[in-house]
Amino acid sequence: MTRTTGTAGMAGRADAAGPAGMADGRVVVVTGAGRGLGRAHALAFAAEGARVVVNDLGVGLDGQPGPDSPAALVAEEIRTAGGEAVAHGGDIATGAGAASLVECAVSAFGRLDTLVNNAGFLRDRMLVNLDEDDWDAVMRVHLKGHFLPLKHAAAWWRAEAKAGRRVSARVVNTSSGAGLLGSVGQGNYSAAKAGILGLTLVAAAEMGRYGVQVNAIAPAARTRMTEQTFAGTMAAPAEGAFDAMAPENVSPLVVWLGSDASAGVTGRVFEAEGGRITVMEGWRPGPTADRAARRTPAEAGEAALKLLAASEPPGAVYGAR
Ligand SMILES: NC(=O)c1ccc[n+]([C@@H]2O[C@H](COP(=O)([O-])OP(=O)(O)OC[C@H]3O[C@@H](n4cnc5c(N)ncnc54)[C@H](O)[C@@H]3O)[C@@H](O)[C@H]2O)c1
Repeated sequence: MTRTTGTAGMAGRADAAGPAGMADGRVVVVTGAGRGLGRAHALAFAAEGARVVVNDLGVGLDGQPGPDSPAALVAEEIRTAGGEAVAHGGDIATGAGAASLVECAVSAFGRLDTLVNNAGFLRDRMLVNLDEDDWDAVMRVHLKGHFLPLKHAAAWWRAEAKAGRRVSARVVNTSSGAGLLGSVGQGNYSAAKAGILGLTLVAAAEMGRYGVQVNAIAPAARTRMTEQTFAGTMAAPAEGAFDAMAPENVSPLVVWLGSDASAGVTGRVFEAEGGRITVMEGWRPGPTADRAARRTPAEAGEAALKLLAASEPPGAVYGAR
């Protein structure tokens, strides 16, 4: 396969005669890759030698049908730079869309090695104003939109493993600080993104036996999802300074997690923003008190208050006063 440098997204790779790319030979599916973080991931995988399926339904910020199909543009961008990519315009939160995504990778490139679940949108409201539709739409696109591609990819990898072929598969899920700590005005999104963390742990535990590693990231970057709400923190710097909020800063970790190089890393969660990578440490037992007798409610309260006094306070919910 020929690779070239020369586009903003593919900086740093040599041509076919150059050093091996971290994702050489891999077939990578990125959902919601028509813009924002997904686009940056797709370009970064292609720059490291992967053949890429660029999925995007092309919806608006709130999930309503959009005017364009940005997946085709990103696939074209990769091909113009000398890489290999195909576009897939299906809805990843439907069984048919998720199944056809895996079929698209296999029919275009003969295999599937890495799935990056990334697609999603927002419907922010305070809980008292949150419509059932806004709850359902956000849970559907993020949580079901992770589960269904994962399920169809897992079935393909399990069949490969059962056929005796070596599987070195990777899944990178996309959570959020909202899922880790909660975010005011984002009850639906925070619940979906926290659900993705639970899904990641179970998938890592269930799929390790087939050679599949599953991890999650909680990114922060300037995209259409954040550029207005967080205009101050997301602003691009003066010319020449490090653009910490560029989505391209998140992609190197995603490429590593999605490659053979991350062997042995599974069931973990990383925050990624600018030049910073943080391992997030999840729920674990804190202070505890046990006795061989049932407590009265008053005794339970007394014990709980003592334990709370000895515990670490939780991190602040985003946007809480
Ligand atoms: N930007 C941030 O700072 C930030 C922070 C935390 C988490 N995230 C998460 O990162 C991911 C990418 O967000 P982004 O900021 O790049 O947003 P974005 O709006 O730029 O990109 C999301 C893409 O997903 C596509 N999409 C939506 N629903 C789809 C569906 N059903 N099927 C296929 N494609 C669909 C959209 O058309 C869009 O192109 C999201 O899961 C988001 O929640 C982003």
